[in-house]
Amino acid sequence: MKFLVTGGAGFIGANYMHYVVNKYPEDQFVNLDLLTYAGNLESLKDLEGKPNYSFVRGDIADRPFIMDLFEKEKFDVVINFAAESHVDRSVKDPGLFVRSNVLGTTTLMDAAKAVGVKRYHQVSTDEVYGDLPLDRPDLFFTETTPLHTSSPYSSSKAGADLFVMAYHRTFGLPVTISRCSNNYGPYQFPEKLIPLMISRALADEALPVYGTGENVRDWLHVHDHCVAIDLIVRNGRVGEVYNIGGHNERTNLEVVKTILRALDKPESLIHFVTDRPGHDMRYAIDPEKIETELGWVPEYNFDTGIAQTIQWYLDNREWWERIVSGEYQNYFEKMYGERLA
Ligand code: NAD
Ligand code: TYD
Repeated sequence: MKFLVTGGAGFIGANYMHYVVNKYPEDQFVNLDLLTYAGNLESLKDLEGKPNYSFVRGDIADRPFIMDLFEKEKFDVVINFAAESHVDRSVKDPGLFVRSNVLGTTTLMDAAKAVGVKRYHQVSTDEVYGDLPLDRPDLFFTETTPLHTSSPYSSSKAGADLFVMAYHRTFGLPVTISRCSNNYGPYQFPEKLIPLMISRALADEALPVYGTGENVRDWLHVHDHCVAIDLIVRNGRVGEVYNIGGHNERTNLEVVKTILRALDKPESLIHFVTDRPGHDMRYAIDPEKIETELGWVPEYNFDTGIAQTIQWYLDNREWWERIVSGEYQNYFEKMYGERLA
């Protein structure tokens, strides 16, 4: 089978690529990525030269390009990771999120429909459900929780999800959607909470905690997210949504203090800063559907996952230092510049 994986140079996409390219040597995986600031081919060095892996640079919202690519490649399966993914950036530039996350999704689905793919999978987020109150720990997001978004990011992801369900009902496109909680692990861009705090703590820099730090996120190791997506794509029922999460709720302050303890750094590095506008209070996933239907069981809990992740950032300092310095953006030119000339 031939898979198109979009956004494969981003955090979760790169982890997914490592997982599937090695696990399924009989399948072909094409990584389509625009290489925005968040795309980093250095995360995929290990896969270069593998016979079942290739990279194409392009924009999922570029209609003529996408139509041509699908006509030429005749993909069997499309997995759409590509998106603008950072809430703080969406507050600054909502329009960019509409373009990549909504228009990009409908463009991909038009092409998927035209060539008759066997499956279109949309990688979505629990943020489409909005947030839960801190004083109701009994409440969790299920697949039937109404969409109720807070940020331009989550609104663009919810908009895309609604189009995915519409393409299923109206055009019969064989779709699935996954909605996962906050991910962490190797190759995460150091603008997101966990890698930002690790990299800044190692440099003895101030750690900016928004508001009071009481907001709760439900953390899942990226490996467990990748396994779940693979199960849904291969065994999930068409037209269904699957929530993914491992019951690992922590306040932001707990996360930051855990990192400081592991790195033997003082809590005096914590600096409370002005809160994010519209900041969601609590996310929490009920994963019963994917557990019972597809037998998904996470490998990591937060304690084992955060220890593995901190160790990865210690062992791979060069990877994130090249991001902090901006050097990683020259990699594409060095690797592909001559070949594309
Ligand atoms: P990321 O920002 O690290 O990576 C996104 C990738 O998409 C980058 O490589 C970027 O270059 C690419 N991209 C952006 N716009 C593009 C476009 N128009 N055309 C082609 N490529 C484009 O994001 P991530 O954290 O890896 O998230 C991947 C997906 O998972 C997103 O759809 C996100 O909404 C979803 N998700 C993320 C989390 C999380 O905690 N990070 C949780 C649940 C769901
Ligand atoms: P983030 O990693 O941006 O993910 P999301 O907003 O999609 O959940 O943020 C996780 C939590 O950490 C969120 O409650 C905002 C908070 N946060 C900080 O307190 N300081 C920071 O510098 C960042 C980036 C996030």
